[in-house]
Amino acid sequence: MVNTKGKVYIVGGGPGNPELLTLKAKRIIETADVVIFADSLVPPEIVAFAKEGAVVQGSKELNLDEIMDLELTAVREGKIVARVQSGDPSIYGAILEQMRILKDEGVDFEIIPGVSAAFAAAAVLKSELTVPEKAQTVILTRMEGRVAMPQGEQLKDLAAHGCTMVIFLSITRMTGVVRELISSGGYTEDSPVAVVYRVGWPDELVIRGTLKDIASKVRAAKITLQALIIVGDAVDPGLDAAGAVSHLYSSNYTHRYRRGQEAVSGTQASGNA
Ligand SMILES: C[S@@+](CC[C@H](N)C(=O)[O-])C[C@H]1O[C@@H](n2cnc3c(N)ncnc32)[C@H](O)[C@@H]1O
Repeated sequence: MVNTKGKVYIVGGGPGNPELLTLKAKRIIETADVVIFADSLVPPEIVAFAKEGAVVQGSKELNLDEIMDLELTAVREGKIVARVQSGDPSIYGAILEQMRILKDEGVDFEIIPGVSAAFAAAAVLKSELTVPEKAQTVILTRMEGRVAMPQGEQLKDLAAHGCTMVIFLSITRMTGVVRELISSGGYTEDSPVAVVYRVGWPDELVIRGTLKDIASKVRAAKITLQALIIVGDAVDPGLDAAGAVSHLYSSNYTHRYRRGQEAVSGTQASGNA
């Protein structure tokens, strides 16, 4: 362990709106001596909380060695470093290689979770991603690109489940995404899909459609980066009318904390809250 009080915080910066930072993330940014932020996805408003005199540095033009040099130099001087990443660092955050170096160098570090763009997008869509009787599973994935997918994780393999899928890093391959989703058999041309561009940013944009028309809508909107694709019944704008209801708050559902009406009148059900 490096013999200083320096420490690195890998901070989830959320999707872009400063109000979606956790209190802890904000406190770390406010107190850090050095703030290194992923300025391709994290807006300057997030690091504007940095204290006067703090070094604030964007990382989009730096490679891993350069970023780690900044972090290690600061920590060896006993400084606190906030490495601010977009959304939640555990999702496509490339933090593994960073942590490996910090561990090898004996540097104390901590991860502060953040609001992933996936959940900020669900909120903007006013969607529950786990819809009773329709989708009880959410797959967070991406289309194969320069990064090869592990065996069994091709979009087509995963899409066969027909559950809710949140697809990152794939907006430039929209036509291929649609083709894989439909050919999996898990979805049809009529399956609902939403694209959320720059959720939490002032120019946030939501495009809704079906797998039949979404690619042309995205093309027309000229969206080529920073967008999520969410497919499945969970993003069906007509879902309310379908009347899917969770057991949890049903008046007849008995669980640890409440007896359902049927149980009270003699018919016993069971379950967990
Ligand atoms: C390197 S990944 C980082 C994901 C991030 N760790 C998270 O939890 O949201 C970048 C991809 O996440 C998605 N993304 C990140 N921020 C976004 C935002 N504000 N709006 C929509 N999609 C976003 C896009 O698919 C983008 O290509």
